Formats: sequence, structure tokens, C-alpha cells
Amino acid sequence: MAERQGGEGVLAVSHLVRMAAFGLLASAAPLAAQSQAPHDPLTPRGHWSANTRGRAALPPMGWNSWNAFNSDIDEAKLMASAQILIDSGLAAKGYRYVDIDDGWWLRRDQPDGRMVIRAKSFPSAAMPDGTTSFRPLTDRLHAMGLKAGIYSDIGRNSCGQVYTSDFANQPEGSVAEREVGLYGHVDQDIRLYFADWGFDLIKVDGCGIRGLPVTNPKVTSGYLRAFDPIIDLETLGRTDIAKVKALYGSVADALARYNPDGDYIFSICLWGSADVRAWAKDMGNISRTSEDISPNWSRMLHNFDSAVRRPLYAGPGSWNDPDMLFVGTGAFDADHLTEARSHMALWAMLNAPLMIGYDLRKATPALLEVLGNPRIIALDQDPAGNQAVLAYDSDDVQILVKTLASGEKGVAIVNRTAAPVDAQLTADHLKYAGKAPITLTDLWTGSDDSFTGEKTLHLAPHQTLIFAAKGTRRLSDGLFLSEMPGSINPAVDGVVVPEDEPLIHRGILPWQGTRGTGQHPRYGGWGGAEADATPFGKMLGSGGHDFHTGIGVLAGSRLEVRNKGYARFQAQVGMDDSARDRSQPVTFFVYGDGRLLARSKPVAFGDAPQPISANVRGVKLIELVARTPEAVRFPDPVVWGDAALVQGK
Ligand code: GLA
Repeated sequence: MAERQGGEGVLAVSHLVRMAAFGLLASAAPLAAQSQAPHDPLTPRGHWSANTRGRAALPPMGWNSWNAFNSDIDEAKLMASAQILIDSGLAAKGYRYVDIDDGWWLRRDQPDGRMVIRAKSFPSAAMPDGTTSFRPLTDRLHAMGLKAGIYSDIGRNSCGQVYTSDFANQPEGSVAEREVGLYGHVDQDIRLYFADWGFDLIKVDGCGIRGLPVTNPKVTSGYLRAFDPIIDLETLGRTDIAKVKALYGSVADALARYNPDGDYIFSICLWGSADVRAWAKDMGNISRTSEDISPNWSRMLHNFDSAVRRPLYAGPGSWNDPDMLFVGTGAFDADHLTEARSHMALWAMLNAPLMIGYDLRKATPALLEVLGNPRIIALDQDPAGNQAVLAYDSDDVQILVKTLASGEKGVAIVNRTAAPVDAQLTADHLKYAGKAPITLTDLWTGSDDSFTGEKTLHLAPHQTLIFAAKGTRRLSDGLFLSEMPGSINPAVDGVVVPEDEPLIHRGILPWQGTRGTGQHPRYGGWGGAEADATPFGKMLGSGGHDFHTGIGVLAGSRLEVRNKGYARFQAQVGMDDSARDRSQPVTFFVYGDGRLLARSKPVAFGDAPQPISANVRGVKLIELVARTPEAVRFPDPVVWGDAALVQGK
């Protein structure tokens, strides 16, 4: 209950701050003075505010022990996997992180609190003086040209301790010795893992702040200490988002402190809870968008869906993580290569981290080819960092398009169903001209084909076709903003009351079966900024005018856009036709490096969209602000229709 009040308190404060800022605006203050309001989150900052710390200009790639071995991990398995990464050529293709997941720890020594490694499983960790260190292991991995990753929890206890007491390699000793998580030890542990042991990545889970209320039998029996939960995966209303964020923020700061060379990855593992999709971009390098993947088709769709509508919340420095690959196992094994290829292709379209979760000692050549296809890897690793945007959406077929650094497109057509289906790919999906020929290069085979206007494609059950597409761009001298989500940061997305997203495939949770009442929406992020759609997944439209291209965001928002040498910003702005509150007109502002460049007239519901444009020559950071005179608890969606950066005259 205390947590619930804390959560609401935070909202109320930010609400008040915004009210104060809007109050200032409503007065006759000149524009220059308006942007000086000290706590106004819509004041232009003039600099990119999403995370740039750590080493994640591209989505990290590697191998993690969890999907392959669960917690039954040891040095022999780890080093064998590392050697296969090298011998198979996968490391040379980019798979360089070798990550130890749950199961490495023995205990936290008392009273000094130093973590002790399970040296029985990791013999090289036993030091002559009786202490333990992972330094010999990380030294060996580094000498092989690889990187090393470790695992912890933000609470006092691990996921295994809280949820799976029967699995291998549980921490041992007294209650305090078994408190192996970071809580109360952030500085000490991060220093040990990075400065002393030499790790390059840490995955920080969240079970210790989620599952240990005083009523938990493991607590009442005296086995574990209670932690009044600050996460409730079932409801954001009972989650203390600010507290969760502050805990993860302290890890982010410690990582920066103990990695002066900046060579590290901060992997946030909050499974889409605590509205993490809205804020991980500001501190993490990769962040889980859903609960665990399992090796079945339905679950893979669930994890995919949890990230697919969030392209604006990912980009160089911080990526959506729909969980580790399950290529090689179950529905994605050597007998299901169509599904294995789909899983891999979809992860590449999402710019997901490519973390192999397979016992590579069992890999067949065909599976290694799926994991190692250079064209699919290049798609994931494209330097522009634009996560794919949905160009066509249904429960049966989806078409995803990703704008590459070269200006060409990656396109994937997914058959989510277990029946064959025909799908039409059109020039419009690609934002290419309809009258000029379009070349499609199949990324699995490398073979070329071409069409003009539209092409019907036949998809086998669960098949994903994936191509590089070359054509004549509809916007010849620039980029639509929805083609460059990796260069956009929704610094303030206007969401006042976080809500769960309903558009996610609701598979059966494997460990729960059909007990309970089913899968309810549980991942915050609904109402966030969207490319080519409204914040609530509808088509963009304003004043009766439909926009197939544009950015949809709530009023009370500030978007940061990196300008890579374009001369002019242009858009048509208005309130979206799906607005419900409609009580406040919206004024749109364009800033360049902190200076006001253009503003619209106030636009009311039903008004025709207004053109707005600004000279951005030489400007590095553009900020797009949509304001209402007064704050609204549930702000209305607005449209930056056809928003684009062009060379112009
Ligand atoms: C959680 C995480 C998994 C894995 C396990 C380990 O479930 O989401 O990825 O790390 O914990 O116990």
C-alpha cells in the first residue's frame, strides 16, 4: 500500500509541474520567456537526452547460457560454447558476448559482503588465497577476442530463489549469505564485476523487488527476507515506477563510474513491467520488453509483439530486447527451419540483440546457417539503427519496413498463421514510387526479383519472407521522420497515466498453463509515440485528412530529432481525429538547437491540418513540441503528418 501511494505521488508532482509550466504559457509571456520556465519538461534542451553511455551503437550479439542450460551452467559448457563461436565463424560475424546467466553464484560473504563464485562449477575462479575471481575466465574470453557478460538481480534475491527453488545451483548459506542481488550492494558489486573481474556486460533481473511480500511462504518460513514489492506485473497502478527507475538508475551510474573506457552493456531485464518501455531508453543499452520467450511459435509472437510498436523508443545506444533467441530448440529446431528463419528475421527487423540461446555443441550446419546468414546479420546491425515500422498490420499477416543507412529498405512479410496465405506487397508499403520498378533481394538466398506497383507473394505457414528493396523513393530529397525512428527520441511523450498495451499476442504462459483468468495486457507503453500510426495504433488523420506517413504522439510532448545534414523540416500538423478530450487546442513548435524556428496557430479538434516548416540548415538537434494551454490528465493524440527532413531549396 505504501508503494501505491508513492507511485501516485510521483504522478501528481509531475502533473503539478506541468500545470505550473502551462500556467506560465497561458499568460501573455513572450515566447522567449516561455521557454525559460525552469521545470517545464517541454522546454527545448538543445541536446539529445536518450542514453549514450555504454557500448551499444549497434545491437549487441553473442551467446547466453539461460535458454541453453537454464541455471545448470559451468565453465566447461561456457568455454565450449565460446570455442564454437570462434570455430564456426559466428564470432567473426559479430557474436562476441559470452554471457553467464543465473546459477554462477555461491554466496555473499559476511560481514564484508563480497560475492563468492561457485568454484566447483567454475574451477578457474578459485584463487590460491581462498577467494574467488572471474578474472581468469574473462581474461581467457578476452584473449579469444570475445566479451564477457554476468548476471544479477536488482533486489536482494535472484529469480531462481524467488520463483524456481528446485533448480540447480541455488546460492547457499545463511539468509544474508544467500542475498546475492545488487540491493544495498550496487557500488560494491559493480566495482567487483567490472573493475576487478573485467566483465563487459551485466544483465540485471528484477525478481527480488517483485515476488517477496511478507506473506510469501519463503518469507514466513524464514528462508528469505521480505521485500515489500515495488513491481506488480499485473498492474501498473500497484507498481512504484519511480522507485524501480531510481534503483536501475543507480546501476547505470555505477557502471559509468567503474567503466571509464565506456566499454560495457547495461541489460535491463524487467520483462516489460514498471513501464520500462518508456524509460529504459534513457539509461539502458538493451531492455526486455516482455516476459521470457519459450521455444514455441505463440510465445515468440508474444515477445515480438511486445517490441514491434516501439520503434521510436529504440536506436543507437539503447535497444528493445524481445528476449534471447530460441533458434535451435522446440518449434525453432532443425526440423522447423521455416520457423527458425522467421524468428531470426523478425529479431533482425526489430534491431534486437542477437543472443544465441542454444547449446552450440549440438548445432547442425543448417542451424548455424540460420544464425550466421550475413545478410540477416547486416540487417540487424545496420548502422542507421532504425527499428522496422509496421507498414501493414493484421493478426494474420504483417509487413515491416526498415530504412537502412543506404536509403534502401529492409522488408519482412510475416505469416503469423498455421495456414498458407497470399500477401500483396505494394510500393506504398515501402514509400517508393508506384510507377518505377522495385528490386527485391531475398536476404536468405541472395537472389533478385523485381516488380512495379505491387506483387503478390505466397507465404507458407509461419513463413517470413525477407528482402532488401531498392526503388525510387517517393520523397526523393529527404527522409520522412517515420523512416528514421533511430534518430528520434520521444523525450516527453505526453503520457501522464501509464497504461498497458493491448495489441500483443496473448499466448499461454508455459509455467502457468490455463490456471487463473488468462493473459491480460501487462506491458506499459500504450499511448507512446508511434511511427505512421496514432499513439493508440490507429491510422493518422486530422481534420478529415488521412496521413499514411507521420508521427503520432500525445499533446504535451517533446520529440528530439537528430538532423543529419538536412536543410528543411516540414510537416502538416493538427489534432488527431481520434481525439476524445478535445477540450484544449494544440500549438506546435519547432526548435533548432534550442532556438524557436517555427510555431503553428493553435489548432482545435476538426480544424484542417496546418503546414509548418523551418529552415534547419546547420542545426544538429530539432525539437518538436506540441502544447496545450492547460494540462490534461489524458492528453489527446496529435499528428505531425508527412513530417520530413529534406534538402530543400
Ligand atoms: C528471468 C529472466 C530470464 C533468466 C531467468 C534466470 O526469468 O527473464 O531471462 O535470466 O530469470 O533465473
